[in-house]
Amino acid sequence: MSASFSINRSINSHTSNTPKLMKNSRLTSSVLILLVLSLSFCVSWGSRYSISDVTLTSEDFITCLQSNSTDATTISQLIFTPDNSSFLPVWEVAVNVLRFNNPSTPKPTVILTPTEETHIQAALFCAKKYGYEMRIRSGGHDFEGLSYTANAPFVMLDLVNMRSIDINVENRTAWVQGGALLGELYYTISQSTNTLYFPAGMCPSVGVSGFLSGGGYGNLVRKYGIGADNVLDAHFMDVSGNILDRESMGEDLFWAIRGGGASSFGIVLAWKLMLVPVPERVTLFIVSVTLEQGATDIFHKYQYVLPNFDRDLQMRVQINSEYISNTNNKTIRILFHGIYQGNTDTLLPLLNQSFPELNVTREICQEVRMVQSTLQFGGFPTLGPVEVLANRSAIPKTNFKSKSDYVRTPIPKGGLIEIWEKLFENDMSEMLQMYTFGGKMEEYSDTAIPYPHRAGVLYQVYKTVNLIDQPSDTTTVSLRRIAWLRSFDKTLEPYVSSNPREAYLNYIDLDLGVGNGSYEEASVWGERYWKRENFKKLIRIKTKVDPENFFRHPQSIPPLSAM
Ligand SMILES: Cc1cc2nc3c(=O)[nH]c(=O)nc-3n(C[C@H](O)[C@H](O)[C@H](O)COP(=O)(O)OP(=O)(O)OC[C@H]3O[C@@H](n4cnc5c(N)ncnc54)[C@H](O)[C@@H]3O)c2cc1C
Ligand SMILES: *[C@@H]1O[C@H](CO)[C@@H](O)[C@H](O)[C@H]1NC(C)=O
Ligand SMILES: *[C@@H]1O[C@H](CO)[C@@H](O)[C@H](O)[C@H]1NC(C)=O
Ligand SMILES: *[C@@H]1O[C@H](CO)[C@@H](O)[C@H](O)[C@H]1NC(C)=O
Ligand SMILES: *[C@@H]1O[C@H](CO)[C@@H](O)[C@H](O)[C@H]1NC(C)=O
Ligand SMILES: *[C@@H]1O[C@H](CO)[C@@H](O)[C@H](O)[C@H]1NC(C)=O
Ligand SMILES: *[C@@H]1O[C@H](CO)[C@@H](O)[C@H](O)[C@H]1NC(C)=O
Ligand SMILES: *[C@@H]1O[C@H](CO)[C@@H](O)[C@H](O)[C@H]1NC(C)=O
Ligand SMILES: *[C@@H]1O[C@H](CO)[C@@H](O)[C@H](O)[C@H]1NC(C)=O
Repeated sequence: MSASFSINRSINSHTSNTPKLMKNSRLTSSVLILLVLSLSFCVSWGSRYSISDVTLTSEDFITCLQSNSTDATTISQLIFTPDNSSFLPVWEVAVNVLRFNNPSTPKPTVILTPTEETHIQAALFCAKKYGYEMRIRSGGHDFEGLSYTANAPFVMLDLVNMRSIDINVENRTAWVQGGALLGELYYTISQSTNTLYFPAGMCPSVGVSGFLSGGGYGNLVRKYGIGADNVLDAHFMDVSGNILDRESMGEDLFWAIRGGGASSFGIVLAWKLMLVPVPERVTLFIVSVTLEQGATDIFHKYQYVLPNFDRDLQMRVQINSEYISNTNNKTIRILFHGIYQGNTDTLLPLLNQSFPELNVTREICQEVRMVQSTLQFGGFPTLGPVEVLANRSAIPKTNFKSKSDYVRTPIPKGGLIEIWEKLFENDMSEMLQMYTFGGKMEEYSDTAIPYPHRAGVLYQVYKTVNLIDQPSDTTTVSLRRIAWLRSFDKTLEPYVSSNPREAYLNYIDLDLGVGNGSYEEASVWGERYWKRENFKKLIRIKTKVDPENFFRHPQSIPPLSAM
């Protein structure tokens, strides 16, 4: 049995088995609270801004593309310059962090939306010939807009037309083209089977390629590791236009593109993924507590219990400040959003034994198909149509500034109180989101792939301020929120990993530094994403496969020749 997804195929309506929802008012209100909060991360509402055109001559480049393409007519329909009326809509459609959708953001000289590999080869050849940089976009979720902006004349390769997905249920594998989105992958898997899945993230509009090339964690991270641990093969185009697979690229390059940031090395055309088994029903629950209800003690205990818990359980913990209703006093609200790879009957005794303070009861547990858990964690109705996962226009955009940290030692209660006090200084636009590690993550060496945040990490911290209500990132309010977020790093410093203070590449953050003149300069940010041994290996591989540094952006891996 197999299923495939292709962008030209209309999505057929299908009958889904509607699972029984255990009705309960606490669940309903918790879900509402969660939906409101998760708006700030995965789903939010946004407005468009008008853009002024940037005009640069690109005729030579376009002539080159046409003459290097087997079919000049076809490729012409895939080329957009600022003179084409569709240039801005094509650029904007996947500008997924709205503060970069702004008249002053540098735009590409040319956008190419290839439908086949030869188009990409022509673009590479001509970009090098005429001295353009290149940016590669799949989902467009880059936190710094690095897939669609640059400070030098550049060609943007938008993989929006290369999104086919082939699921092989018998052999538990999938081939996924470079431009596919996570939601399209989940949707396509769900059309074939309820008992296989891929261990990836919760936001359906994130691109498979950006996600995997930076590592990629999700709800199955404690059981199956990160997404990049579950990649079996890849089709990859190097700077000379060679199309390589795992065997022909060799183990070093295959290692580098699974966590080292593929955009420093070349273009991922497709990934071969290993699908993992999931039960027909998984159990979801949400517990919401405030300081008045003992949130500090419960979070304190969470740090000791969850990373060592049965690896079938994941908890995403969301923390924000809010007003106590009808007062001017603030409190902290913590949401524990659980997903268990098994049924309620198995989960409850385990939690009752190790974490009774959470008060998880049968009434708040809901058993659903795995794909429905993705809907709930993505901010969609849990029992709503699965098609929404494969519908780009149904997923609203976000606007934020975010940062990351990793916690390896439980934060003492005094530290938690200090953190709450710091949150109170902000205007309630902030959110912290913790993903629990441990389990399978303990079994990987830090050097297995470039992603080094493994054994000993209790949880990863995502820190964000929401800017969705702001017209730009330069309003007084935006500047104040971003300054607060930066100062929050100092508050957290004693409580998070150090030497290096670890950071997550997929939460790319130019605040960490962009120095690249020497190893010492580049290590300021490079060792935070990869640690020393992996960063040095990435530099060696970069030097070998792209010595002239064609594939670059402000935090790309520098080749030795450039330092
Ligand atoms: C709302 C939201 C939710 C998120 N949730 C999670 C989560 O649950 N777990 C998690 O791990 N991360 C999560 N992330 C982070 C996400 O993994 C990164 O932002 C990721 O880089 C996005 O990939 P993309 O393809 O959408 O972005 P893009 O902006 O298209 O690309 C990001 C980077 O990858 C490069 N790239 C893209 N495609 C290719 C290709 N084919 N070949 C070579 N390089 C390529 C780009 O050039 C750029 O450098 C989330 C981000 C957002 C905004
Ligand atoms: C590619 O384009 C360049 C510049 O237009 C041209 O000189 C060259 O012959 C072309 N190569 C091929 C293989 O068509
Ligand atoms: C954009 O304009 C160029 C130059 O006029 C043209 O060659 C190309 O076909 C146009 N692209 C589209 C998609 O219409
Ligand atoms: C699964 O793999 C086996 C062994 O490689 C192969 O013979 C078989 O054809 C594959 N099945 C499918 C559906 O691709
Ligand atoms: C608000 O905080 C003040 C100062 O801590 C306290 O005196 C007051 O009782 C609080 N009000 C409410 C409604 O909790
Ligand atoms: C939890 O365990 C206690 C003691 O073993 C027991 O009395 C209680 O009924 C259990 N609660 C649930 C919800 O299972
Ligand atoms: C859990 O239940 C106990 C006993 O009913 C109660 O005292 C406590 O406040 C509850 N905690 C939460 C977080 O709901
Ligand atoms: C996709 O979502 C949009 C916006 O919600 C909606 O208008 C459209 O009908 C949806 N398309 C499909 C195929 O479901
Ligand atoms: C070094 O960084 C600068 C500034 O971001 C950039 O212009 C340059 O291309 C980078 N050099 C290398 C070798 O990556």
